[in-house]
Amino acid sequence: MNDKTISFILKENLLNLELKDEASKTDLQSIICDVLNVDRAYLYLYGDKVLIDIQVEEIEKKIFRYTQGEPLAYILGYKHFWKQKIFVNQHTLIPRADTETLIEAVLNDYPNKNEALDILDLGTGSGAIAIALAAEYPNSNVIAVDFSKEALKQSEINANQNNVDNIKFIESDWYENLAKYKFDIIVSNPPYIDIEDSEINDEVKKYEPHSALFANDGGLADIELIISKAQNFLKNSNGKLYIEHGYTQSEVIYKLFANAGFLDIRVIKDLNGRDRVSIARK
Ligand SMILES: C[S@@+](CC[C@H](N)C(=O)[O-])C[C@H]1O[C@@H](n2cnc3c(N)ncnc32)[C@H](O)[C@@H]1O
Repeated sequence: MNDKTISFILKENLLNLELKDEASKTDLQSIICDVLNVDRAYLYLYGDKVLIDIQVEEIEKKIFRYTQGEPLAYILGYKHFWKQKIFVNQHTLIPRADTETLIEAVLNDYPNKNEALDILDLGTGSGAIAIALAAEYPNSNVIAVDFSKEALKQSEINANQNNVDNIKFIESDWYENLAKYKFDIIVSNPPYIDIEDSEINDEVKKYEPHSALFANDGGLADIELIISKAQNFLKNSNGKLYIEHGYTQSEVIYKLFANAGFLDIRVIKDLNGRDRVSIARK
């Protein structure tokens, strides 16, 4: 029998393990909330509550993983993205807040949520983008593509968990199995990190799927392919392609769009004011 209270576990770990900053504190609270299945307010109201042994063990196991550098989303098994709870595993990239820039850009361009759009999400991973758009445009048909069977399995689970039923999942190497389809909108957050990029932190490299992150040719190989073939899969001159990319890549991407004959090329900044999503019209 232990006598550890919620407050004690929080304090002990923040002090002993040098997890002293606000973000770490919030993450530890998330771990405790998850194990106890309570919300954050509970931790403040019932900080004196003594936990039972299995709760303490589970919390401490997860905190240990956290101190080893494992991302919180993998420890919890999910991440909130847009209005959804997206479950993740080692086969899926953890959805990033910056990717919500892409969702906002589409919503800005297509304000009528009743529209019946044909939307393609290339490299769907956890399904985060496809599910957010399918939920925002319930009359639309979304096709979500990935070449990873495991990622597709997880994205289908996420669609079901979020009660979204207007997505078709297709295993495909980019456009390979899409010959019979045409779209109003193509969106993609493809792998765009240069393998040589020294700014990428070790945890990302260690825990997240490399095939979701890294691309050849300075990180541009997949983007180049997606842009060069997109015209064939866009329905008409209103068809648009939205690409998430690294913040230093927007100039090259502008040229790739222009060379492929795209019009109205523009770039949108992310939450940190950095170039993040490029958009162009057929
Ligand atoms: C950066 S992740 C994006 C995941 C998700 N869309 C998101 O925004 O969180 C890129 C995704 O592209 C997929 N991918 C990489 N190469 C691919 C290819 N040749 N064909 C289809 N999908 C590919 C990866 O498996 C991964 O799920």
